[in-house]
Amino acid sequence: MSVRRLAPKELQPESFAFTAENLAWAENTIAKYPAGRQASAVIPLLMRAQEQAGGWVSEPAMRYVGDMLGMAPIRVYEVATFYTQFQLLPVGRKAHIQVCGTTPCMLKGAGDLMKVCKNKIHAEPFHLNESGTLSWEEVECAGACVNAPMVQVVNEVFEDLTPEILEGIIDAFERGEKPTTGPQNGRKSSEPVTGLRVLTSPELYDGSMVGTGVGLAAAREAIAARAAAAAAPKPAEPAAAAAPAAPPKSDPAPAKPPVAEAVKAAGSADSDKPSKPVAPPPAGEKGN
Ligand code: FES
Repeated sequence: MSVRRLAPKELQPESFAFTAENLAWAENTIAKYPAGRQASAVIPLLMRAQEQAGGWVSEPAMRYVGDMLGMAPIRVYEVATFYTQFQLLPVGRKAHIQVCGTTPCMLKGAGDLMKVCKNKIHAEPFHLNESGTLSWEEVECAGACVNAPMVQVVNEVFEDLTPEILEGIIDAFERGEKPTTGPQNGRKSSEPVTGLRVLTSPELYDGSMVGTGVGLAAAREAIAARAAAAAAPKPAEPAAAAAPAAPPKSDPAPAKPPVAEAVKAAGSADSDKPSKPVAPPPAGEKGN
C-alpha cells in the first residue's frame, strides 16, 4: 500500500476553477442536500474536479471545493487522501491502472499482474510511462474479490485476469481503445464459470406461481413434477416393442417419483404446520 500525500509544490497548479458547465453541475449537485449538509457533496465535487483536471486532484482544487461547501481545507484533504479513487499526482492520460493487492487477489495472481505493469508501464508505481499516457499503482480491495485477480481503471473494473489478458488491456488503452470491462474468462458477473447449478428451475422466476396462494409447497410440487417428467422413460416406438429389453441402468437418475413425493411431503409440512418457536424455560428453572 502506498503513502498518500499531496503532490509536491512544483507539480501543483497556481489555481483551479470549474468550467461554466461543471460549475452549474456542482451547484445543482449541492442543492440536492438538505440545508447545513452541503459537505456531503464533497465526493462528487472532487470527482468532477478530478475529471476536469485530467485524472488527478490538485491542492488548489481541494481548496476550491472546500470553499464551495463551506469546509475547512483540511476536511477536504482528509477525504481526498483517504479514498484511492482520488489521484493526488498527475497520472497517465489514457489510463491509470489500479491493481488490487489484497489477499484474495494476491492468492489468485495479483503479483504477476503487477509484474506486467512494471514491464509495460514503469518499474515504480505512480510514474508515467515514456509517452506519459499510462501509470499504475497497487490498491487495497476494490470489492470484486470473487472475480480475483482484478484491476480498476477510474470507475471500470477488469476481472478474472491473467498476465496475458492484462497485457492486452494495457495495449488497448495505449491505442486509445476502450477494452471490454468485467470478467475476462467468459463468465457472467460472478456466476460459476461452469454455469449455474442451483436455483435453475424456471418456476422460481417465471411468475407461474404468483397468485396460486400456496407458495412454497406448490412451487416444490411443480418443480418435482417437472423433474419426474424429465426422468420418466419415453413411450416405446412400435419397432422397438419387439426388441429385447435393455438392461437396467446402474446410474440412478437425479429425480424420481419417490423423491418428488418426499418433496411434496416437505412442501405440505411447510404450508400446513408452521414451526412454533420453543418457549424458553421459566426463569430459575434449570435443565437436566
Ligand atoms: S481482494 Fe481484490 S477485489 Fe477484493
